Amino acid sequence: MQKKEDNIMQKIESLAKRRGFIYQGSEVYGGLAGTWDYGPLGVALKNNIKASWWKKFVDSREDIYGLDAAILMNPKVWEASGHVAGFSDPLVECSNCKNRYREDQIETTANGKKECPNCGEILGPARQFNMMFATKIGAMEDSASTVYLRPETAQGIFVNFKNVVDSFHPKLPFGIAQIGKAFRNEITPRDFIFRVREFEQMEIEYFVRPADWEEYFGHLKEKMREWMESIGLDMAHVHELEVADGDRAHYSRRTIDFEFDYPFGRKELYGLAYRGDFDLTNHKLEYIDEDAKEKMTPHVIEPSFGMERTILALLLSAYAEDTKGDEPRAFLKFSPLIAPVICAVSPLLKNKPELVEKARLVYGMLKTEFGRVMYDDNGNIGKRYRRQDEIGTPWCIVIDFDTLDGEHKDTVTVRDRDMGTQERIKIEELTSLLKQKLGNAN
Ligand code: GAP
Repeated sequence: MQKKEDNIMQKIESLAKRRGFIYQGSEVYGGLAGTWDYGPLGVALKNNIKASWWKKFVDSREDIYGLDAAILMNPKVWEASGHVAGFSDPLVECSNCKNRYREDQIETTANGKKECPNCGEILGPARQFNMMFATKIGAMEDSASTVYLRPETAQGIFVNFKNVVDSFHPKLPFGIAQIGKAFRNEITPRDFIFRVREFEQMEIEYFVRPADWEEYFGHLKEKMREWMESIGLDMAHVHELEVADGDRAHYSRRTIDFEFDYPFGRKELYGLAYRGDFDLTNHKLEYIDEDAKEKMTPHVIEPSFGMERTILALLLSAYAEDTKGDEPRAFLKFSPLIAPVICAVSPLLKNKPELVEKARLVYGMLKTEFGRVMYDDNGNIGKRYRRQDEIGTPWCIVIDFDTLDGEHKDTVTVRDRDMGTQERIKIEELTSLLKQKLGNAN
């Protein structure tokens, strides 16, 4: 019998592909391990997540500045940051079948050995494998031209610390935030979009006076929790792990991992690290505290969010199955804040020009106002509801014969995704109703 957790991952992966959220990268050429492409609904979901994150951590605050740094950076950055020397995972290769594994992901057997999960051969010692992707810049193919695809967005922030300070003269504490791609040559990409080789991070480096670090560590932890809840993550499945000495990244003096109960186990979702003065000191960057009239090196608190893990945890939080009118259905209970489509507009029948004309008018009106609106006239109305439920559209609006004539003239039905109930609303009141519903979700 198939394990329940595999089943849920398969259902989610298949829904994501079928409905245009996430496709395997380079699929027509057999794929490229650890890469995924986002379809029309996936990119809409991502954009909504980014917008909500940016609003929460940048636009609604006075103390956090936005940034968009280049992916390619001078390789000296990665020497100073410790990534050239230390950003590696333990790699073991099976001498028999040649499969490669991350040693720390293979369980030790009763006799204290590690066996190849593929062929059972006893595995030899591990060697450290640096996870940065190296490439060449310019026309020269010598070692001086080696550059790396950034493995974290954080360093783009540190190397712009002085620029932002010189332009804006912020007083401590203040932060710099960035959303962007990061790349890691993971030995074993796995679990759909959980561990991939190309992903997006949303990171903040928050600069504080050394004595204040605990206060702001606590403050940012709360803000992270608030945001997770606001986008609809199932908080019963979110846990905080105090990462032990010895298990933390080389730069960290304290780390809390936010973990999520994925079907394949409780694993990292986000990290919150106290990086001390590690990065600014290594980049030889200082700050002039104008109040104290002295040069000092601020300490750093770093909330770090992965986009792919956000999306996977959101899909798992939102996925539900029930029965509506004797028919089983699968649906995504996305918050309207992040749903790729807020509402779908349909004529009851697509071969009645008077219904289509009215539906197009209503669609145009809502599309102009909200953008995230879909016109859907495929199949019968029941099929449309199922399809919209599956992509997490909170409301379906239908133009029927009552819209055209009689006591309900100029009204439409608005169906609620989760309850399956419908209410009749005047067309002229639709925009304010949806705004109100969206406001309630905000
Ligand atoms: N700047 C700190 C930093 O990069 P990290 O714990 O290595 O810390 C931060 O990564 C977040 O990036 C993780 O919590 C996770 O959400 C995401 N992430 C890291 N590696 C990933 C991978 N291979 N695939 C998907 N997401 C990843």
